Amino acid sequence: MPKIEEHVETSRQRTGKDYLELHEWMDADPGKKAERHDVKRICEYGQLMKAKYGREGLEEYVQHIYEDITARYLEDQADITGAIQSQVAVADLRAQLAGGEGDACPIPVSDVDLLRRSGMSEEDIAHSIQVAQKAMELAERAGVPLDMVLVGRGGLFHDLGKARSRGDDHGVVGARIGKRLELPGELLEIMEKHVKAGLTEEEALAARLPVKDYSAKTLEEKIVIYADKLVDIVSHPDGIVSSDAEAEAGFPEILASHPRFAKGDKPMARLIRIHEEIQGLMGGKG
Ligand SMILES: [Fe+2]
Ligand SMILES: [Fe+2]
Repeated sequence: MPKIEEHVETSRQRTGKDYLELHEWMDADPGKKAERHDVKRICEYGQLMKAKYGREGLEEYVQHIYEDITARYLEDQADITGAIQSQVAVADLRAQLAGGEGDACPIPVSDVDLLRRSGMSEEDIAHSIQVAQKAMELAERAGVPLDMVLVGRGGLFHDLGKARSRGDDHGVVGARIGKRLELPGELLEIMEKHVKAGLTEEEALAARLPVKDYSAKTLEEKIVIYADKLVDIVSHPDGIVSSDAEAEAGFPEILASHPRFAKGDKPMARLIRIHEEIQGLMGGKG
């Protein structure tokens, strides 16, 4: 976890003020530290911060929690699911703060609860959490600047459409549900594009989907696609591989010998290109 001085330094860089009192309130009393960092109490404590330090202070309080969660994720991979959920909850609030005025400070709803309330099965939710974990691990290993919250949420939400459909339209259906939930546009794109590693216009027409180019463009989109397929391979009941490393190392051969994963030559070619690009960034052989 960052020390008080590090939080102070971030505040100074962001605002020109150190907000020392605020950071000491957060960290200095070991008996109160956990509850003051509890994302479920952000609304309650956030209002106190806003009353005392104004909107800027409220933002520094949220930023403090965000930095701690990010550090915890890096330090403790074992707690990754909790870290993702907390991080996205804080990211939601940061987005709300960035979005404008209003005293409303709803407690951010856990993304996993959102999946559940949208009608996804527990099995699909478990898969989604695994994809989020794998996607964040790949993003970390890629060693390039990436929107980690988008990667984590992309993994969590990519199959949201499976609440309604298990066909090739589940990406488009998921994006439609996500739009109603007011999820961000980049996240909707990940949902739409992950099916068959990003359909072309021609393929979309043949699949009777709204005709447009669904090719994955950003690294965040590609990482979710790659993570999804790796999780499918690793968790397949036939025990095709015994480890993540084996799935990554043998990815092209596994796709070639098990057509059920790629579901077509074109998706397979795209998956292999994505695999090579991401492995190239991570220093693998591709
Ligand atoms: Fe999917
Ligand atoms: Fe999936």
